Amino acid sequence: MIPYGRQDISQADIDFVIDVLRSDFLTQGPLVARFEGTVADYCGAPYGVATNSATSALHVACLALGMGPGDMLWTSPTTFVASANCALYCGAGVDFVDIDPHTYNMSVERLAEKLSVAEKAGTLPKVVVPVHLCGQPCDMPAIKRLADRYGFKIIEDASHAVGAKYRVDEKAAFLPVGDCRYSDITVFSFHPVKIITTGEGGIAMTGDPALAERLQRLRSHGITSDRSQMIAMPEYEIWNYQQVLLGYNYRLTDIQAALGISQMTRIDDFIHRRHDIADRYDREFSSLPILTPWQSPNVYSSYHLYVVRVSAANGGKTQRQAYDELQAKGVNVNLHYIPVYRQPYFQAMGFKRGYCPEAEAYFTQALSIPMYPTLTDDEQGHVISVLQGLYR
Ligand SMILES: Cc1ncc(COP(=O)(O)O)c(C=O)c1O
Repeated sequence: MIPYGRQDISQADIDFVIDVLRSDFLTQGPLVARFEGTVADYCGAPYGVATNSATSALHVACLALGMGPGDMLWTSPTTFVASANCALYCGAGVDFVDIDPHTYNMSVERLAEKLSVAEKAGTLPKVVVPVHLCGQPCDMPAIKRLADRYGFKIIEDASHAVGAKYRVDEKAAFLPVGDCRYSDITVFSFHPVKIITTGEGGIAMTGDPALAERLQRLRSHGITSDRSQMIAMPEYEIWNYQQVLLGYNYRLTDIQAALGISQMTRIDDFIHRRHDIADRYDREFSSLPILTPWQSPNVYSSYHLYVVRVSAANGGKTQRQAYDELQAKGVNVNLHYIPVYRQPYFQAMGFKRGYCPEAEAYFTQALSIPMYPTLTDDEQGHVISVLQGLYR
């Protein structure tokens, strides 16, 4: 079976991890800070705080921005549940903004409309979480303009998008996702199907030193070893840490950081290969009655996923027919995503089916087909011929 995504681990990755296993520190050693610095340099952000998953990075990002009971977080319905759950962990509420029919990212028009209604009702969100679906960046300058007008904070869920780029318009230079020019915090995931991996892992990037410090403390029990941050208590003067708020153990290990550092040396190669795969799919599918991913001229996607949309209209195939045929011929496909509010947990919170019509239309047609750097030309050829065979 050809999977829809998988990691690419080299001998150099393995050797570097083994070096760490033989070193003094398996965790809380020097490699986590080195990994944070590597990612921060790569995406031009002043600070990176590594965590044991993107889910925990989203949680501490919400807490660092002061999310709590009575607050609201808005995100896209077409995302992994973690983009929404981070609000619930903080005792806050969550709501969804429908997607754009071309990019499948949160629609800026729907966001603007919903904000205008919420302003009148006094129900503006504290945080908005745009998700760069499949690695295609959202229109961050436009979302930031709305943040400035309505006073919300932005956490970019860039779990799919380390290595992606965006620009303000067609004359401007491309900028790396994660530079936090148009957001407070940007989160990446390093799960094995993502662009680079640490096994499990994530990171929160920020340009704000105070936020970086809060993120660091929240990921490690709310503890500080910085004397200037400690509360003066002479009886504890010689001891080297204090817990000053309630945090978690969300730390990345040095073993994982080593894998991440080694993977970062190949990130651009990974993304070039993903683009080659996408270009071939685009060419081969251009005459089929399926929709290939539309790309804004102002983005350079990391192509975490390649999503096609199939439809029974005009003699085409349903999602189920295409899924069954692909699976039967050894091609594993996936769906990213069922609208989050359709999950039973969210239905129990009162969300109704049909809440976001574009996200509903998308999820009945979308299929993520195999996309990862080690997909061979022959394997890709097989995926292409099975899909083409559906329409003969
Ligand atoms: C959009 C999105 N957000 C958040 C996450 C959570 O990432 P992690 O598995 O690193 O916690 C994922 C993972 O699949 C994701 O796709």
